[in-house]
Amino acid sequence: LKKIAVLTSGGDAPGMNAAIRAVVRTCVYHGIVCIGVRRGYKGMVDGDFVEMHARSVNNIINKGGTMLHSARCKEFMTKEGRKQAFENLSKESVNALIVIGGDGSFKGALRFNAEFGISVMGIPGTIDNDIYGTTHTIGYDTALNTVVEAIDKIRDTAFSHDRLFFVEVMGRDAGYIALNAGVGAGAEEILVPEENLGLDRLLESLKRSRNSGKMSSIVVVAEGDKTGKSVFELKEYVEQNMPDYDVRVSVLGHIQRGGTPSCFDRVLASRMGVRAVESLLESRGGYMVGILDDSMELTPLEKAIKGHSSINEDLLRVSDIITV
Ligand code: F6P
Repeated sequence: LKKIAVLTSGGDAPGMNAAIRAVVRTCVYHGIVCIGVRRGYKGMVDGDFVEMHARSVNNIINKGGTMLHSARCKEFMTKEGRKQAFENLSKESVNALIVIGGDGSFKGALRFNAEFGISVMGIPGTIDNDIYGTTHTIGYDTALNTVVEAIDKIRDTAFSHDRLFFVEVMGRDAGYIALNAGVGAGAEEILVPEENLGLDRLLESLKRSRNSGKMSSIVVVAEGDKTGKSVFELKEYVEQNMPDYDVRVSVLGHIQRGGTPSCFDRVLASRMGVRAVESLLESRGGYMVGILDDSMELTPLEKAIKGHSSINEDLLRVSDIITV
């Protein structure tokens, strides 16, 4: 193994830079050349490469986003695109690839490996935390803290005006951000994609807390929730059924993807970056590095993509109890 390429793909996540830094420096440490690919798979198709040195990754451990840029690439979904990417890597004599991204990016990596035999290694980087084989993905912890901080601010104004706020958070089809930030921020109700609690229950809960003297409330709604209503429709629904409640909506959006990575994400990304390179050195391609019980573990990429992490039922129960 002489040359490893590294790229970030899909939605960016705070801590991706720390992972790039760890990959580059582990390569330097072991005397391997590291090639950075700009804009994810798009850069592989276009041959947009840059040789990385220990000093290329100075002063990025504390930066959100990704210095290599990211993209969701349509060309790489075609056989011709992948062939072009392989030819570009071959010209550079790259024989292994580290993909920092989410499950869509891992699917691309697996297909690429199956077609052209290049060793691939995945590092889970997404705020959604929706990957099997790791309890935490890079960026998730920072996103949680961002959401909690935002809801704390919303709470101030909700309290002052005796209002109910629906706060929509990201997570695609997963409720990790909603559930954990919801509990951390003391939300009244949390609507997650994994379980449809029904609109009646939501209304009952809001009425119950109003009757018990609660004058303001926060309801956290995962973007993929299963009520079948948008946050704006939920607002209308509650207004129709509880006409004396003043309701507002706040969609947190992409602020959840940016910002300074938390210490947890920096440490996680650093450990994952080192382990990814060292696993390739041990000729263990086709895996994803994850954290399980505070230990770096490898899960076959195939499994990481198809495996299913379920919602934390106990946390849902805790949330019910403490919002009584
Ligand atoms: O996967 C990360 C994520 O931020 C999801 O939570 C969200 O559904 C999606 O990406 C948004 O994608 P885009 O940045 O392309 O709008």
